[in-house]
Amino acid sequence: MKALILSGGKGTRLRPLTYTGAKQLVPVANKPILWYGIEEMVAAGITDIGIIISPETGKEVQTKTGDGQRFGAKITYILQDHPAGLAHAIKVARPFLADSPFIMYLGDNLIQQGDLKNFLRQFTKQQPDALILLHEVVNPTAFGVAKVDDVGRVLKLIEKPKVPPSNLALVGVYFFSAIIHDAISQIQPSKRGELEITDAIQCLIDQQKQVVACNLNGWWLDTGKKDDLLEANRIILDTYLTTSNVGEVDGKSQIIGRVQLGVNSKIINCTIRGPVVIGSNCYLENCFIGPYSSIADNTTLIDTDLEHSVILEGAKIVGINQRIIDSVIGQRAQLTIAPRRPKALRFLIGDDCQIELT
Ligand code: DAU
Repeated sequence: MKALILSGGKGTRLRPLTYTGAKQLVPVANKPILWYGIEEMVAAGITDIGIIISPETGKEVQTKTGDGQRFGAKITYILQDHPAGLAHAIKVARPFLADSPFIMYLGDNLIQQGDLKNFLRQFTKQQPDALILLHEVVNPTAFGVAKVDDVGRVLKLIEKPKVPPSNLALVGVYFFSAIIHDAISQIQPSKRGELEITDAIQCLIDQQKQVVACNLNGWWLDTGKKDDLLEANRIILDTYLTTSNVGEVDGKSQIIGRVQLGVNSKIINCTIRGPVVIGSNCYLENCFIGPYSSIADNTTLIDTDLEHSVILEGAKIVGINQRIIDSVIGQRAQLTIAPRRPKALRFLIGDDCQIELT
């Protein structure tokens, strides 16, 4: 059994963060989203992992993630020269996959830890042509959607339907036998110009191949947009964060609940109410850091109140006199109060940023 993790694509929905980096490397609880997928594979016993990368962000993914040793896996990077669809990615990965059965895992998806193992067991035992996972969502038009009959058999799969036949979305984790390659060779690009995996699975269904659909009962998040990312951050911190402190906390500070503090980080006169993760080499002075916040390495926060937010590496926030909530602050971004008159707002805002002022 092999695994194919998709870490290519354009990442348009997470702009501006993805102008300078891969969306799969955006951190959730200070760890790249992609790494959760890799760890999930290894936990399920799959260590031969191919990762699809794009020409734009592939180097960064490769440099950061490495050859797999840190995960106890062997990683093969596979370049997809343009994002022509999920089924196209499988086509490009054929030399790596050969005729092995495999799991395809979308690198921006997160599923509850431990769930994969059970589905893998079912796939290995039952040996269907494909096993797909479905999950109820409130906005099915944003996903591949399944129409199932009364006994749970999949009748039809439609990619991003305008009028969804159900609220059962296709989760970005698929189990395939080698027969999927034949199906992919029979499909044409969709209206959006992509070779859709949804169409390839539909092709299997049309040819009476065995496509098993299982309901994923644990949580599942597609981290494509800001609010999804914050929700993923909340769930991961809530579920998995353990307390550890290898930084420095002064006597005037209060640390409440589960808080992780990295090496060389200094906390001075702050209240930190977990779950909160703070990376290494951070400097926090006169701050309140509320629950569900992740603060990456090398950040500086002074006179700042923050809650339910993700702060990326090297950001600096100083003297903002209103509480910052539900926010994602990009790498090296600076949010400060101008020290001089005229009292005014001064911005250097990149493309596609979202700023809400009161
Ligand atoms: O998240 C689940 C959904 O994922 C499913 O419900 C849909 O049926 C499926 O098509 C897919 O839809 P998305 O629009 O969310 O796919 P997206 O373009 O965001 O790509 C998913 C991942 O695959 C992402 O990490 C980028 C990567 N990718 C994407 C394309 C199109 C590649 O590596 N190569 C590609 O060509």
